[in-house]
Amino acid sequence: MTMLLAIETSCDETACAIVKDGKEILSNIVSSQINVHTLYGGVVPEVASRIHVENISTVIEEAIKEAGVTMDDIDGIAYTQGPGLIGSLHVGVQAAKTLSYFFDKPLIPVNHMTGHIYANQFVSDLKFPLLALVVSGGHSQLVWMKHEWSFEVIGETRDDAIGEAYDKVARVLDLGYPGGPVIDKLAKEGKPHYELPTPKTDTKYDFSFSGLKTAVLQLQQRERKKGNEIISADLAYAFQETALKSMVSKTMEAVKEYQPKMVVLAGGVAANSRLRALMEENMAPFENIQLVIPPLWCCTDNAAMIGASGYVAYQHGERSDFNCSADPSLPMPGEI
Ligand code: KG4
Ligand code: ZN
Repeated sequence: MTMLLAIETSCDETACAIVKDGKEILSNIVSSQINVHTLYGGVVPEVASRIHVENISTVIEEAIKEAGVTMDDIDGIAYTQGPGLIGSLHVGVQAAKTLSYFFDKPLIPVNHMTGHIYANQFVSDLKFPLLALVVSGGHSQLVWMKHEWSFEVIGETRDDAIGEAYDKVARVLDLGYPGGPVIDKLAKEGKPHYELPTPKTDTKYDFSFSGLKTAVLQLQQRERKKGNEIISADLAYAFQETALKSMVSKTMEAVKEYQPKMVVLAGGVAANSRLRALMEENMAPFENIQLVIPPLWCCTDNAAMIGASGYVAYQHGERSDFNCSADPSLPMPGEI
């Protein structure tokens, strides 16, 4: 039995979890800063790190208390090393180092993106080879895993991450931050009315969302010049359909070429109801390939997913020493 204390502070959630054998969650505390960042229309990195500093000790204490364990029961400290905001990451790294030093426990570095993928372990045992569509506020990647703990990024965004595009389009439409959940809801009332260009890249599996975001802005400006009122629900619908259909169609091309045993959705944007429906619809004909869609609570950032991935990292011998540092652009394990 392996019990890990996991810490996640890569963006705007201060989180700590106690996870047994990578699958059983004893506690999972997430302190969100969303209310503060909403005031600024997006995450302000300096503000995020300051709030992490204020909250981290309480969040760790809560996680231990709720799990009903003591530090004697803990076998290792898993922490998000990157990618993410440097100041935010540093707070989690320092907390992890302190616990590791004081209680003499091994330190396990975890890549945030592997955390999102391994969150699916709470739903089903992962089967390999596996294809993951990892979509968050900072990343949009297609990851091929031939076997456990092997990661090959076969496609990624050339510019904005999909979550970032949702947030920016929401700002254009004056819908507040974070944009994803609002656009998801609003698009349900939208009708096919506006046309937006399908994003294009010259590579098979890479994505691009920045042109689409600009197209939304230009359409809004054009309509305003003509004296037309913008129907926000219709524009949200057009943006969402265009962005998601281009992403899902690339994912399906990869499914056909790579023939995985399992396809998983991961990251904050995996909470999107239309993306979930589109994936189910498109995967239905592939009866031999299991599709796993994480429950909403483990799509967005949390520390339980760092405990799940940290457990596999621990099994594979990943350790940090006290010279370890946060890495805002940390590559996937095995990638340079
Ligand atoms: O994974 P996450 O919590 O943080 C990062 O690692 O970036 O993802 C946050 C992103 C934000 O851009 C947010 O707008 C988006 O996930 N998001 C959504 C939905 N819920 C959250 N995007 C689309 N539809 C949603 N329902
Ligand atoms: Zn994330």
